[in-house]
Amino acid sequence: MNDLSSDSCSMAAPVLLLLLIAGSATSSDESLFPRFVEPVTNVTVTVGRDALLACVVEDLRGYKVAWVRVDTQTILSIHHNIITQNPRISLSYNDHRSWYLHIKSVQEVDRGWYMCQVNTDPMRSRKGYLQVVVPPSIIDNMTSTDMVVREGSDVSLVCRASGYPEPYVMWRREDGQDFNYNGESVSVVDGETLTITKVSRLHMGAYLCIASNGVPPSISKRIMLMVQFPPMLSIPNQLEGAYIGQDVTLECHTEAYPSSINYWTTDRGDMIISEMEIVGGKYEAFPMDSGYNKFMMLKIRNITKEDFGFYKCIAKNSLGETDGIIKLDEIPAPPSAFTTQKTVIDNQTIKKKGHHEVFWPMTP
Ligand SMILES: *[C@@H]1O[C@H](CO)[C@@H](O)[C@H](O)[C@H]1NC(C)=O
Ligand SMILES: *[C@@H]1O[C@H](CO)[C@@H](O)[C@H](O)[C@H]1NC(C)=O
Ligand SMILES: *[C@@H]1O[C@H](CO)[C@@H](O)[C@H](O)[C@H]1NC(C)=O
Repeated sequence: MNDLSSDSCSMAAPVLLLLLIAGSATSSDESLFPRFVEPVTNVTVTVGRDALLACVVEDLRGYKVAWVRVDTQTILSIHHNIITQNPRISLSYNDHRSWYLHIKSVQEVDRGWYMCQVNTDPMRSRKGYLQVVVPPSIIDNMTSTDMVVREGSDVSLVCRASGYPEPYVMWRREDGQDFNYNGESVSVVDGETLTITKVSRLHMGAYLCIASNGVPPSISKRIMLMVQFPPMLSIPNQLEGAYIGQDVTLECHTEAYPSSINYWTTDRGDMIISEMEIVGGKYEAFPMDSGYNKFMMLKIRNITKEDFGFYKCIAKNSLGETDGIIKLDEIPAPPSAFTTQKTVIDNQTIKKKGHHEVFWPMTP
């Protein structure tokens, strides 16, 4: 303990006795009594930090200062001595005037009133409140985890947080987008529970529950909401035209969760095998994914008579299957004997010839 006072003679033994004797000294002359220079100011500390309560007394003379925990009626210190068994509590003093109560690594049980007493008769005191604040934390076992639900069902996500003061909890989408919350478009929902009735595929995504109580840091938990629905399919052009020798691309869009298996079949129901790897292969299928959306494209090279007819795009997942049909019709070849396929020979040629484009003649 750091004794900063010049008054360092040890008075440890008869402390309680001295308190009583001093306390019995009565006088009507106010100038003979100790005076508090300032109130014991309230202190706010985050749990785990150290707290310091100060009591400043003028003209203490032979009187003694004691620190008392009001709620538990415990004497913490008297004069230069620590009375409490709590090892986190210590004392320092200065000039027989300033008396500091130190509380190390503050815990929630330390929250409450602390009183600085002087043993006059009647006893004089001042008290201050130690506020212990706790940053928010999420109670994992009472908070939802990632969820998979069927489209059209109702879903509740729950997020419980602890902290002092009691945290405020809100929800938002991780991507910051607004979402439909029971008929309203919202960006934030207040409260521990996010209840969505008749959930739609548009609700699919990551949600954040954010707990804050003014004590940094705020905390959040990420919860994925997956919405299952059977495949749906749309076709931009159900009728395509091409002439013999041309290349043509057919297109289908699908949506499904879980992700669907998509493929193309011919008129006769034969699965079309993509020959992307083979140079000059007949078919090339390009699937492109974006979330629960898939774009299916089938490129058919060098159309012949046999290629006209019907093509089917199919999407299947565990919840169902759907398909769509595209008709490929023959159209007359354009009057020009050239296709529109452009080929660049090499950079050098281009430089020399400027913007000259080279066309390949169409095969018969
Ligand atoms: C000290 O804190 C207590 C408890 O929160 C409060 O009632 C009181 O008004 C505060 N005093 C001052 C001076 O702020
Ligand atoms: C959550 O966990 C805490 C301990 O980590 C336990 O005391 C409490 O009973 C649990 N609550 C539930 C609802 O499981
Ligand atoms: C296109 O098909 C015809 C007839 O099958 C063939 O003779 C020709 O070489 C093909 N052209 C190309 C560029 O593959």
